[in-house]
Amino acid sequence: MEKYVIKGGVPLVGEVEIGGAKNAALAILAAATMTDETVYIDNMPDESDTNAMLQAIASTGAFVDRVGRHEVKINASQVNNFTIEDYIKKIRASYYLLGAFLGKYKQAGVVLPSGCNIGLRPIDQHIKGFTALGAQVNIEHGIIDAHADRLVGNHIYLDVVSVGATINIMMAAVLAEGKTIIENAAKEPHVVDFANFLNSMGANIKGAGTDVIRIRGVEKLHGTEYTIIPDQIEAGTFMLAAAATKGDITVKNVIPKHLESISAKLVEMGCQIHESDDAVRVVATRRLQNTHVKTLPYPGYPTDMQPQITVALGLASGISIVTESIFENRFKYVDELTRMGANIKVEGSTAIIEGVDMYTGAVVSAPDLRAGAALVIAALTAEGYSTIEDIQYIERGYEDFDAKLRELGGQIEKVDCDRDIQKFKMKHA
Ligand code: UD1
Repeated sequence: MEKYVIKGGVPLVGEVEIGGAKNAALAILAAATMTDETVYIDNMPDESDTNAMLQAIASTGAFVDRVGRHEVKINASQVNNFTIEDYIKKIRASYYLLGAFLGKYKQAGVVLPSGCNIGLRPIDQHIKGFTALGAQVNIEHGIIDAHADRLVGNHIYLDVVSVGATINIMMAAVLAEGKTIIENAAKEPHVVDFANFLNSMGANIKGAGTDVIRIRGVEKLHGTEYTIIPDQIEAGTFMLAAAATKGDITVKNVIPKHLESISAKLVEMGCQIHESDDAVRVVATRRLQNTHVKTLPYPGYPTDMQPQITVALGLASGISIVTESIFENRFKYVDELTRMGANIKVEGSTAIIEGVDMYTGAVVSAPDLRAGAALVIAALTAEGYSTIEDIQYIERGYEDFDAKLRELGGQIEKVDCDRDIQKFKMKHA
């Protein structure tokens, strides 16, 4: 099994190019199957989650052509398999194929999603939306099956703000008859990007980015060429890496507006932030200051950036409080961080953090995607060597993470045996 071996203590300095947004890509790839014409997608991240989605799409009979590392062409005119069980068991976003196929073919079957284990992840709001549009949804033998004779627009009020349910209902509704209104919709940047993508295929969606999305069904969608937005969470992860290592990183090819909640917290923590049109520079010259953070739906502070800021606050002066309000099981990595010397007490959905002067290197294991990235940041600040195991979680959503960190001066390598760990230690002694 591959691992990262890291020697900490070097401030990360330089520029890093941010890739396309994973969570937008997963939805966009699924929706690319909703037309018989060819769809060309650019700025697609090359990560294991997006690659699994592409394999799943190919398994339905669709034509998938990887034109370049970040470009793909999809033509779904030959789809002949409407139940998808392979390739996507481990990716949460597999459920987007349910919305896409239900919308286009009025029938879909997808293995129940698992994804990162960060708490209960119900899909009741997705099902509520599909049912309101006239579908029958059953769960049997681990497969969710949805089918309908016809889909008819409806007024749907989401009980919780859900990115996945908002996107899935949009997919089913764009080809439904009449008008659908989704109230209490998610407003995340990738929800807006996804609506823009569907509109570029001929859909009629208004209000994405607000609480109320209005969709007028159209008869069919056509081909398009589309560039995915930059990844807010990848960018935010490097911003927090700059803060935690007392470095100076410019994240390039980003939309600074999407990063405002993260930038605001970094300013509270004593960092300097310099924004330009498509870049944000984070400069951290002295010890971070404590602050309090609560994760919220966009435009609030993202839950996917919670472990990274907890790692940074674990090194700040004073006591910080981080409250997780989206997923109930998202502090599992704290045990690992404690082994690196952090002083953090978790009570329910709150972490009480008493900053320490420094972490010390240890062998730790990535419990999920974002927590894994956060442990890498911790190791980059730590005294001595660390080994991060289970990096397959990290590779789900970060392209070339170790290479990008090396470019910034990070002493990190991907290894697959103990001998390589020894070699790394000798090289960085
Ligand atoms: C998406 C992101 C994930 C991010 C999360 C919140 C993708 C592929 N994943 O996940 O990285 O952490 O948004 O920004 O885009 N809920 C229900 N019933 C439902 C659906 C959700 O109760 O039917 C609850 C969830 O348990 C959670 C909250 O709603 O407490 C938000 O979940 P949701 O926005 O749906 O997250 P995902 O779409 O799974």
